[in-house]
Amino acid sequence: MRVFSGIRPTGELHIGNYLGAIRQWIELQEKAECIFCIVDLHAITTPYKAEKLQKNITELAIAYLASGLDPEKCIFFVQSQVKEHAELSWLLGTITPLGELQRMTQFKEKAKKHPEYVNAGLLNYPLLMAADILLYQTDLVPVGRDQQQHVELTREIARRFNKKFGTPPAHHPVFKEPKVLLPKTGEKIMSLQNPKKKMSKTDDPQGCIELFDEPEIIQKKIMAAVTDPGKTIIYDSEKKPGISNLLTIFSLFSGKSIRELEKKFKGGGYEKFKKSLTELLINSLEPLRRKRKELLSREVYVKEILEQGRKRAQIIAQSTLQEVKKKMGLI
Ligand code: AMP
Ligand code: TRP
Repeated sequence: MRVFSGIRPTGELHIGNYLGAIRQWIELQEKAECIFCIVDLHAITTPYKAEKLQKNITELAIAYLASGLDPEKCIFFVQSQVKEHAELSWLLGTITPLGELQRMTQFKEKAKKHPEYVNAGLLNYPLLMAADILLYQTDLVPVGRDQQQHVELTREIARRFNKKFGTPPAHHPVFKEPKVLLPKTGEKIMSLQNPKKKMSKTDDPQGCIELFDEPEIIQKKIMAAVTDPGKTIIYDSEKKPGISNLLTIFSLFSGKSIRELEKKFKGGGYEKFKKSLTELLINSLEPLRRKRKELLSREVYVKEILEQGRKRAQIIAQSTLQEVKKKMGLI
């Protein structure tokens, strides 16, 4: 079974990315053939600073490694270093109706958010994502709910391509149709400052715990986290969204169930609970912080891992693209 996923190198990762995405990847690398990509070509479709991009790419690679992705067990590489992604994306664009791209929710949202920067790349974003996935004959794509629509479009593109260019009479498929893998419920982490909104660094940095935040910062952010009226510690996402979010984070980092935690902190008040959570987060993230510091001084090693990943990825990508070009009459 083959798994493919990617994250855009747009800055530091937060615990939402970690709990909602990377942790699943770490489990998956034990049982499937995994390919994880740093999708820099996607990152440049929204406003960005060119002089910061290389640093963000290295930081993301370090974050992958520090979180526990093992280059012996999975392939990871930088998207723009395997030119087959851009090439296949162009080819897929020629069989995709414009309307299908225009109705994508993410395109509409981002166009609204950056009205001054509605470039063609933003519209074509899902084609590049489809190319990422289809090049590797992927079975499973672990992503957040917001990306589900793009994976569905990818399936549609694969189906259309197979029908149009597959070998008759059975239309021997050129592409595998990938399935989406969504995180389990409760793994949508909310902002500490506004628990009705998803944790997101660009929206509010104070509501967001970064993966490599120093202990003092973690303490400050948790102690300042918005709670709810009353002082009981129970899970009720409607009436007590703040405490419920903190319970979810506690549960995911400690491996204890929400029920167990409710019992443990019964009658103890918010402050005691927050202190325990602070301690848990500081201790859980400590090995990641240490690993990152170590890796920051080993940039050559990190680059070498990405280079190895590129080589391995490109072998697979080239073989799919060759087949596609043959079927399309380009070779
Ligand atoms: P992004 O930074 O939006 O590209 O997200 C990278 C990955 O992290 C995607 O798989 C998202 O679904 C996941 N993710 C981002 N924010 C959260 C959050 N607050 N809770 C859970 N998962 C998240
Ligand atoms: N679009 C995805 C996101 O914003 C990132 C991504 C790019 C991706 N290519 C991918 C995810 C291929 C899964 C598979 O989160």
